[in-house]
Amino acid sequence: MREVPSHFGPAHVDAAKYREMYSESVENPEAFWGREGKRLDWITPYTKVKDTDFTFGNVSIKWFHDGVINASVNCVDRHLAKRGDQTAIIFEPDDPKDPAQHITYRELSDKVNRMANVLLSQGVMRGDRVVIYLPMIPEAAYAMLACARIGAIHSIVFAGFSPDALANRINDCGAKLVITADTAPRGGRRTPLKSNADAALLHCSDKVRCLVIKHTGDQITWISGRDVDVKAMMEEVSPECPPRPMNAEDPLFILYTSGSTGKPKGVVHSTGGYLVYAAMTQEYVFDYHDGDVYWCSADVGWVTGHSYIVYGPLANGATTLMFEGTPTYPDAGRFWEVCEKHKVNQFYTAPTAIRALMGQGPQYVEKYDLSSLKVLGTVGEPINPEAWAWYDKYVGRGKCPIVDTWWQTETGGHMITPLPGATPTKPGSATRPFFGVKPVILDPTTAVKQDETAAEGVLCIADSWPGQMRTVWGDHERFQETYFSQYKGYYFTGDGCRRDSDGYYWITGRVDDVINVSGHRMGTAEVESALVAHQAVAEAAVVGFPHELKGQGIYAYVTLMNDVEPSDDLRKDLERWVRTEIGPIAKPDVIQWAPGLPKTRSGKIMRRILRKIAENDTGALGDISTLADPSVVDDLIANRANKG
Ligand code: WTA
Repeated sequence: MREVPSHFGPAHVDAAKYREMYSESVENPEAFWGREGKRLDWITPYTKVKDTDFTFGNVSIKWFHDGVINASVNCVDRHLAKRGDQTAIIFEPDDPKDPAQHITYRELSDKVNRMANVLLSQGVMRGDRVVIYLPMIPEAAYAMLACARIGAIHSIVFAGFSPDALANRINDCGAKLVITADTAPRGGRRTPLKSNADAALLHCSDKVRCLVIKHTGDQITWISGRDVDVKAMMEEVSPECPPRPMNAEDPLFILYTSGSTGKPKGVVHSTGGYLVYAAMTQEYVFDYHDGDVYWCSADVGWVTGHSYIVYGPLANGATTLMFEGTPTYPDAGRFWEVCEKHKVNQFYTAPTAIRALMGQGPQYVEKYDLSSLKVLGTVGEPINPEAWAWYDKYVGRGKCPIVDTWWQTETGGHMITPLPGATPTKPGSATRPFFGVKPVILDPTTAVKQDETAAEGVLCIADSWPGQMRTVWGDHERFQETYFSQYKGYYFTGDGCRRDSDGYYWITGRVDDVINVSGHRMGTAEVESALVAHQAVAEAAVVGFPHELKGQGIYAYVTLMNDVEPSDDLRKDLERWVRTEIGPIAKPDVIQWAPGLPKTRSGKIMRRILRKIAENDTGALGDISTLADPSVVDDLIANRANKG
């Protein structure tokens, strides 16, 4: 087993301690979590710990539910006495020539309080929704914590999403206002966030206000009466805003995520349980110790950014690094340059980034001093052993434990993951469950639980943990239907999984119509509905296919309207169309013109066949006799698009 390098001192847990703590956590969750909950400061301590029910029709999840707490107090105020002058956030800008900023806990407190007062001045009240459409700048963290301070529920929309996607989310959660920035520098280019927000707001109630952070100073359109200059206003308001006492079960945030059907779901996370879980996992999984400099390279627009850039590390009083740029700007050494410059101890990224950098050659990483690194992490998709080995050799220099963390937007925090110094790793396996997590493997068709150690099937979780999502915003039925209806009594993850004879878990990928493109989760149904909204398109079916860099790529079969001829121009137009409907991350890698799609006699598209063709595995199409017109398959195979 790889220990943490010895000059860092012993890890929080070793193998024996892990076993002991894990046993208690699943055998006596009340006692275990009753103690762990105390890592936070409560305004009124809880007397109840766990009150959860996975019974379909009756699903209800509550943790610490008579406790009263405020998340911003836990991430900011409570650190002031001991570490007011310690850096809370290191901001590393897109352009390496611009200076980094070090924001202390005291400064963070000042900003969060002021921004909270700005929100109050705009009439935002407890329980109101605030959409945040910001790049990776400290103001994104201020805005999150300001919402938490006054009991407003934030919903971050990834800055790479289009105006349409933004509008849908503003409308679905009924946001009172949206917080954005003028423009967002990334990789030397600028995303016009404010003008995207302007376009989105055309589709929203005219009561929705727009709070603008002037970040670059680029020119923007200003709509007086609706738009507010946040930085100017922060100067005017009081630097003190009393925190609102919140119930542990009050929602902290909503985050939209893709499912196998329909529009994205608003995943709702709680205040108390979520924060306990985010803080605890951040400490144990990264073996975080006081004084460490910790960097998660995700974006705050995804759950990883919520739990492991903002809430987890700040609840622990950590120094957390926020990086505005990209791994390859100005060159493929940027990550390592930043690690060296800020003496980063824990580094957490996605396999897709590692694969991209690996392709550029080791010279970009070899020239930096990476001796500060202690633990390396990955998230978002299974890591292929080649990428794991490269990360280990060139970044970890053969000395750092690697934690491959499996989890989901829905789970709030890590679920299956090694602990540094406690879990021997196997490249490609997320290894063993975190404390309190009871994974089970079920037979996908019979739903029978597989009791042998070595088993394969769908991954479910048998009991609740504090970080679990509580509901789908505005649709508890959909919550139960999605996660608790197929395998009764269990939380269904949507992932396939194999457990080896050592009891190690290997995630094999989604078993539903969700695909994972560069670690970004995408519903094929979303891309399809974007495509069919184009006037030339009659029908579309989208599947994933293995992609060397992205993990999975997007393969779209498109049937055109009768009077429309396929052309390269039309293909480009459709690509542009999907970019504007959803965002650049949803652009299909392949569009194949399909005169017909393989359907059953009842009209259901047989995606299994489309997946096989996209994978170029046409020898194993299986039974196609139930198709209404089997000849469409021959056409699709003959005209299979060149994916080069
Ligand atoms: C996949 C991201 C294998 C999985 C935190 C899951 C992984 C989905 C891993 C959730 C991993 C995430 N190994 N697969 N270490 N981490 N996944 O909601 O399919 O964006 O269901 O949350 O990503 O994606 P989401």
